[in-house]
Amino acid sequence: MIKIAPSILSADFANLERDIRRVSSADWLHVDVMDGCFVPNLTIGVPVVQSIRKCTGMFLDVHLMIDKPVRYVEAFAQAGADLLSVHLEADHPTGIAEALRRMEACKVKKAVALRPITAPSAVLPYLEGLDMVLVMTVEPGFGGQAFLEHQLDTIRQVRALIERYNPACRLEVDGGISVKTAAAVVAAGADTLVAGSAVYGAADPAAAIAALRGD
Ligand code: DX5
Ligand code: ZN
Repeated sequence: MIKIAPSILSADFANLERDIRRVSSADWLHVDVMDGCFVPNLTIGVPVVQSIRKCTGMFLDVHLMIDKPVRYVEAFAQAGADLLSVHLEADHPTGIAEALRRMEACKVKKAVALRPITAPSAVLPYLEGLDMVLVMTVEPGFGGQAFLEHQLDTIRQVRALIERYNPACRLEVDGGISVKTAAAVVAAGADTLVAGSAVYGAADPAAAIAALRGD
């Protein structure tokens, strides 16, 4: 089952509740948290996730693009995140392992994310305990960038590792996903598609969500 996760990074932050309702036919809501250090952009933090939680029952897929994310696992879990993705490049392996342990303790779903430069094998030490792997298909930091074709190979390799070690684990892709690139990432093994500009840039977001799903 393909899941579509619209990214609110492309929403109007002054009308966030309205823009969340516009994508209510989607499966998940993707929330991009950036700290200005791990990536050269600043977006939203814990209080905003808390407010989003009050206005929707949607599954909150929270993508942490922050250094040493272990520091904020409990805070985002308490704010209402359903899943947290931590970047493998954002801390030493001990910090990543500890972040995943804290997610388990907080009963939120656990994911690791890979920048385009990171080798698929980097997921191996964690894979058996994960609910999802997030493969970036652009450099993290901004919406509206062009899809990186060469990441199709990374998706295929991560899919092979998932099939071997943890077949229930989801494989999400994020960056430059549109109706044009969706079929290729699904064929490569992705089952969860983040889309910001392709959904919020469309005149009819619900139709864009259906088109991304292949309906
Ligand atoms: C980028 C973010 C993405 C972004 C995707 O660093 O992680 O979630 O919103 O935007 P599009 O779909 O426009 O590439
Ligand atoms: Zn994201």
